[in-house]
Amino acid sequence: MVRRALFAAATLALISSAAVAQDTVKIGLILPMTGQQASTGKQIDAAVKLYVAQHGNLVAGKKIEVILKDDTSVPDVTKRLAQELVVNDKVAILAGFGLTPSALATAPIATQAKVPEVVMAAGTSTITEASPFVVRTSFTLAQSSVPMAEWAFKNGIKKVVTMVSDFGPGIDAEKSFSEKFKADGGTIIESLRVPLRSPDFAPVLQKAADAKPDALFVFVPSGAGAQFVKQFVERGLDKSGIKLIATGDVTDDDQLNGMGDVVVGVINAHNYSANHDSALNKAYVDAFKKANNGLRPNFMSVGGYDGMHLIYEALKKTNGNTDGEKLVAAMKGLAWESPRGPISIDPETRDIIQNIYIRKVDKVGGELYNVEFATIPNVRDPVKAAKK
Ligand code: PHB
Repeated sequence: MVRRALFAAATLALISSAAVAQDTVKIGLILPMTGQQASTGKQIDAAVKLYVAQHGNLVAGKKIEVILKDDTSVPDVTKRLAQELVVNDKVAILAGFGLTPSALATAPIATQAKVPEVVMAAGTSTITEASPFVVRTSFTLAQSSVPMAEWAFKNGIKKVVTMVSDFGPGIDAEKSFSEKFKADGGTIIESLRVPLRSPDFAPVLQKAADAKPDALFVFVPSGAGAQFVKQFVERGLDKSGIKLIATGDVTDDDQLNGMGDVVVGVINAHNYSANHDSALNKAYVDAFKKANNGLRPNFMSVGGYDGMHLIYEALKKTNGNTDGEKLVAAMKGLAWESPRGPISIDPETRDIIQNIYIRKVDKVGGELYNVEFATIPNVRDPVKAAKK
């Protein structure tokens, strides 16, 4: 009798510990919390925490546990952390990824472990093709560069010099902008690239000034815009008559206010502005600022916020089942309103479909904002669309 009772108790303990394990859904959130992309890590971490605070940590009867790891902005570290999170922590989902090389380095692990990889920041078009388990809530550079090219040619800009950071998203920005601009009838005088790590913009800015284009089209990653603008002014390009046009990564909400009045009037294209006019966005900006000492949310933050929404909604659809293939299937085609506007996940490509806004930097209530003045609705990644 005693032995039977003991056995039953032991079995129960086993079952309940297994049940506890199953009742928690672990999300491995890998972000650059330090290093060159630290502002991206800070923004996404804050947005993920805000989402959980607003929506609770129980979804479809499961407890959500976010395990945050700092990859120090180094892709080899991202890969090692992803491996450890899958093997040791048994995470059901990998998320984050502040840089394209970090997202790409993780893709084989996602494939092998059959674990969804939710890309919240990186923007190179090919990332979603690196694994059938990648789903993206950020953006692609072609999404913003093609509308920027179209606007530029329509508005009297005929000769352009491009200047991009020399890695995946920069090359996508250069290529997609140039192809569209030339197809419309424009001329690309020169295509300049600067290194991702510790960039010195002075030599390329000199080349750009010497080429005397109507406009300089620029992509630098989130966090590098302020330094670029500083050198743009130091080289006197603000007084050269050469217009500055850009992807919204350059006039990033995170740094825009500190760039000074020299950026007033800069036209750029992007998916999110803290100034986006919707009730949902106003509530988002207020709550984000309140929780983060007045920090203004940027486009990276919404990638994180929407990434959490994607995970929560997918878990609801699977009734808490964390099978990777079922989760990815549940993510395909999901559509919702984000602080940036309406968005959805393309069921064919697992990439985000979103509005792109043409914006002009302007003063609003004494602060600098990207003020949206035109909307291109429901933009699919143009690179993948062209392959069809
Ligand atoms: C990227 O690494 O894909 C990336 C990083 C920062 C950006 C855009 C793209 O602002």
